[in-house]
Amino acid sequence: MRAVMLEARKALTMAFLGAAWLALPGGAAMAQTPGAAAFSPPAEAAMPTGPFGDAVKLGENIFRNTPKYAPQFTGNTLSCDNCHLDGGRLANSSPMWAAYVAYPAYRAKNKKVNNFGERLQGCFRFSENGKAPPLDSTVMVALEAYSFWLSTNAPTGAKMAGRGYPKLAKPAAAPSYQRGQAVYAQNCSLCHGANGAGTMAHGAVVFPAVWGKDSYNWGAGMSTISNAADFIHANMPLGMAGTLSTQQAWDVAAYIDSKDRPQDPRFTGSVAATRAKFHDTPFSLYGTVVNGHVLGGTAQ
Ligand code: HEC
Ligand code: HEC
Repeated sequence: MRAVMLEARKALTMAFLGAAWLALPGGAAMAQTPGAAAFSPPAEAAMPTGPFGDAVKLGENIFRNTPKYAPQFTGNTLSCDNCHLDGGRLANSSPMWAAYVAYPAYRAKNKKVNNFGERLQGCFRFSENGKAPPLDSTVMVALEAYSFWLSTNAPTGAKMAGRGYPKLAKPAAAPSYQRGQAVYAQNCSLCHGANGAGTMAHGAVVFPAVWGKDSYNWGAGMSTISNAADFIHANMPLGMAGTLSTQQAWDVAAYIDSKDRPQDPRFTGSVAATRAKFHDTPFSLYGTVVNGHVLGGTAQ
């Protein structure tokens, strides 16, 4: 199934890159992701064997195909790998080797010190629109084993280059839905679909949903325009990271984050109260009116 998915993804990506390449002025070279990190996680072939190796392998499988390997905790079709690229190995794509050594840490989101497992629970609840796996569950221990292994020889507590998504500069003009719609049509819709629902082949996700019922919910980091702009500029379009201008990244982030998606699981019963409590920032469109429609007001 994974082979089918990868083949379909490769074919479409090549079609897209071929067309985009010709459209680039003077055949400009692909931009490099800025600030590439010096750290290299261990090679796949170096994965240990035995019971610990089994846990690492299970963790990798969950990471790369979350709906299949952790269905009880997953409420959409996204996998961790869709936002933490290359199995959580890629610098500037919020890699697990940089995250693992950075916890326990205080998080303003839940106003307490989180250990690494609690941080993973957040991505299940919001990005996966699912349920938090218990800290001692097989799923959690496997993801921790995988992240621990990826961070082999990384210094504990160090702020590693390549952690998170690089902070994008502020845009010259306020992000615009209309301009974002045009950026999306030209640079994103071939893979993610004009309706944002992504592309499936033989029941497997080839290109993930960026809005709608199969996407991340209103509590997810990615539903905040600033986070989405950071991620998109550094990682999208797939294979051409860094080619969007700063303004285009902000505009397209505003566009996808002004579409319907699953309700924030912290919903208090009122969209206005939920906005006031959790989304009181210009970077969240939750609870605002876009195209005559209150975002977060219709359950997906
Ligand atoms: C829809 C995209 C998306 C998906 C799917 C997703 N994440 Fe994340 N993840 C993010 C974003 C965005 C952040 C940073 C957000 C923030 O800081 O608020 C993040 C942050 C994290 C962090 C903290 C990184 C650090 O350096 O502190 C960890 C760990 C993590 N995710 C693990 C996972 C795991 C494990 C899964 C799968 C179960 C997953 N994520 C699924 C988008 C996603
Ligand atoms: C060539 C195909 C392709 C193009 C073009 C493309 N993406 Fe993606 N995108 C992907 C794939 C594949 C992933 C998942 C990455 C992975 O699993 O390795 C992804 C992941 C994402 C994610 C995180 C996962 C999710 O579904 O929320 C977002 C957000 C996203 N892309 C936005 C964009 C935007 C915005 C554009 C246009 C500027 C774009 N993409 C262009 C293929 C593409």
